[in-house]
Amino acid sequence: MPLADIAAAEGTPLYVYSAAALRARFRAIDGAFGDYPHALHYALKANSTFAIARLVHDLGGAADANSIWELDLARRAGFALEDIVFTGVGKSAAEIDRAVSLGLLAINVESPGELDRIDQRAIALDATARVALRVNPDIDAKSHPHISTGLKSNKFGVPIDEAPALFREMASRRGLLPVGAHVHIGSQITTLDPLSKAAEAVVSLARDLRIEGIELQHLDMGGGLGISYDGSPVVDPASYVRALVAATRGSGLKVAIEPGRVLVGPAGVLLTTVVDVKQFPGAKRFVVLDAGMT
Ligand SMILES: Cc1ncc(COP(=O)(O)O)c(C=O)c1O
Repeated sequence: MPLADIAAAEGTPLYVYSAAALRARFRAIDGAFGDYPHALHYALKANSTFAIARLVHDLGGAADANSIWELDLARRAGFALEDIVFTGVGKSAAEIDRAVSLGLLAINVESPGELDRIDQRAIALDATARVALRVNPDIDAKSHPHISTGLKSNKFGVPIDEAPALFREMASRRGLLPVGAHVHIGSQITTLDPLSKAAEAVVSLARDLRIEGIELQHLDMGGGLGISYDGSPVVDPASYVRALVAATRGSGLKVAIEPGRVLVGPAGVLLTTVVDVKQFPGAKRFVVLDAGMT
């Protein structure tokens, strides 16, 4: 359908997403795993429009929720509780309560303090919370500093060196069941190396834990894969998946990923109407849009 027809029918400004493009991107990533056990937890923060969430669900995807509202949206879109992970660096008491009482695939734990809070609430609710520890591997994602989350100067996760002790602690808590390790080093990452290194770091952690008798069920490698906004090269999603599987295969552990931008970004456009054109003599020409200050 021509975009101009949609603009004429709906008015502008207007975001339009192509279901076909989204499906193609999902299948390219999903298919690259071949028969290796995996799950694509769509990071709802990338676009929590209901129709998009439902489309990902219908494609066989899973969900990554970052707030109570995203949890509710995921459930309304049809995601089963065992297909939802719950992430977030500052989960509120209400969010912890909701996540624990629902019994999700995993709550991705950000700190020793949060681990305590989840344990206490699980005991109070007579539940066992399935938890995955988010580790901070101190790896530079080589993206924009404001969307880099994997360096020790960033607030996210726990230093990977402290992870074994925290996993032991988790295994000893009545309210917790450690099921996974989680890493997410940033967004709009356009080179493979940092993503491969992060994957290798969590696989190595899982191996060490296995020697100690702590057996994980999955490794959540987060999201972060970048897209091209200006034609500059990016990592091909299939190469990314191959690198993750190459790092993980020896462990046999299931790989979860949390792609956001890479799924929806290239599937969408913003339609806007030119309201005015202003030519300042000998200077710039401004095109004034109905879509904002850009
Ligand atoms: C924990 C986590 N997972 C997944 C994502 C999605 O990242 P992206 O859209 O870059 O794939 C983010 C984005 O900030 C995140 O913080």
